[in-house]
Amino acid sequence: MAIRNIITEDDQTLYKVSRPVTEFNDRLWQLIDDMKDTLKKADGVGLAAPQVGVLRRVFIINTGDKVVEVINPKFVERKGKQEDVEGCLSCPGEYGITRRPNYVKIKAQDRYGKEFTFDGEALIARCICHENDHLDGIIFKKHVIRMLEPDELNG
Ligand code: NI
Repeated sequence: MAIRNIITEDDQTLYKVSRPVTEFNDRLWQLIDDMKDTLKKADGVGLAAPQVGVLRRVFIINTGDKVVEVINPKFVERKGKQEDVEGCLSCPGEYGITRRPNYVKIKAQDRYGKEFTFDGEALIARCICHENDHLDGIIFKKHVIRMLEPDELNG
């Protein structure tokens, strides 16, 4: 258990494409456990491995009920449209309105390599898209229609 440092948008690591996970071993579990501690401390909704400097296709999402561990995700379905406020732990204090699918379904592997599907709408769908983008070296600003001004952030 350890808190890892979350890199910010000036770090070029965030713009690189992550490699698939091929070994489901102690090292991966340590990474995921550390990411969970890091996400909890940062009070965020999602965190991707590149944000802690590891270029592997891993992210976690806190759905409110549980933290879902997602490895080697692939989209199975994307439906609808939503526009809402989005931010990123790697871009502290910055928020913008993004356009995303309102529903997504992914296929992924768990920490033991077992395949599962995970889906969600609204915030969860947005979060899945946001975290998956990190694995392809994309930060949310690419999808921003309009950045929020500081005086729009209250409430
Ligand atoms: Ni992010």
